[in-house]
Amino acid sequence: MKPADAPVDIQDEAALQLDGDGNLRHLLTLKGLDKDLLIDILDDAEGYLTEPGSLPARSDLLAGRTVANLFFEPSTRTRASFDLAGKRLGADVLNLDVNTSSRKKGETILDTIYTLQAMHVDVMVVRDASAGVPAYIARHVQDHVSILNAGESEVSHPTQGLLDLLTIRQHKQDFGNLTVAIVGDILHSRVAMSAAHGLATLGVGELRLVSPAILAPDPDSVPGAVITDSLQQGLEGADVVMALRIQRERIGNLDGIPNIDEYFAEYGVNHQHLKFAAPDAIIMHPGPMNRGIEIESAVADGPQSVITQQVTNGVAVRMAVLERVGRLMAKR
Ligand code: CP
Repeated sequence: MKPADAPVDIQDEAALQLDGDGNLRHLLTLKGLDKDLLIDILDDAEGYLTEPGSLPARSDLLAGRTVANLFFEPSTRTRASFDLAGKRLGADVLNLDVNTSSRKKGETILDTIYTLQAMHVDVMVVRDASAGVPAYIARHVQDHVSILNAGESEVSHPTQGLLDLLTIRQHKQDFGNLTVAIVGDILHSRVAMSAAHGLATLGVGELRLVSPAILAPDPDSVPGAVITDSLQQGLEGADVVMALRIQRERIGNLDGIPNIDEYFAEYGVNHQHLKFAAPDAIIMHPGPMNRGIEIESAVADGPQSVITQQVTNGVAVRMAVLERVGRLMAKR
């Protein structure tokens, strides 16, 4: 079966990522991971944060191990942070250039994976535009290899979800009293899905998903979330506001999608709209940002923005995940 045709079975994925003792072997989705495990990963990530200007945290925990970054879709933040995370833990890191790899000559994804496995790659960090690819690979690799999902179609982006949870926790300690508003193209956003999964597990007070109706998610995919097309209603008293870009690369037919000016006027996170949110609301964005479309520059760069902190946390979270799968490898 080709990966693009492989069915996405979230329950199956959730079970696949843990070993028989409940240890994290692959990271495919936040859905199904329990609260204690999420909190442990966030705590471990905190331990990798250092003061700005000081040297980054390092260890030799993954010395002798090899991490391969396989990004079959563009990336800046996720790829660079997995690269740095692997190196700062002492691993050899291979960044496969997909544009010059043999997949361009018709090699199947499994043949690429088996080739890297034969070179003693221990961890494969995978981003792909097709749903089901990370789990498909995880089902086929040898027992000692770990697969980490670095962004899967519109389905899941678990390390982004973890770094978002960490950033929120640094500013707003009690998830149960929080109102989180995610604004933008929810329908096509793996970031929104992983945030929703993680926030639900940590017991968020209220999650609001705000978008034009044409970009709203299937309510069954986000049980418990409030779905609205009213930005004012979505932002009213929100403690956390996360802006998302319109994922044009995933939208075959752009008919009905508001143009840039209409979108910014109605759904842009700008200083006017922000007056509806709590005065101490934090502003998040996973990047890449489209300034002047889903977020105003003055807000993205303003005092409430934690966007660069999200980036910093991305390295720490990926170190924590690599540490976890690395420790499991060391036990085998
Ligand atoms: N947030 C995120 O996934 O960014 P990149 O696409 O740059 O990795």
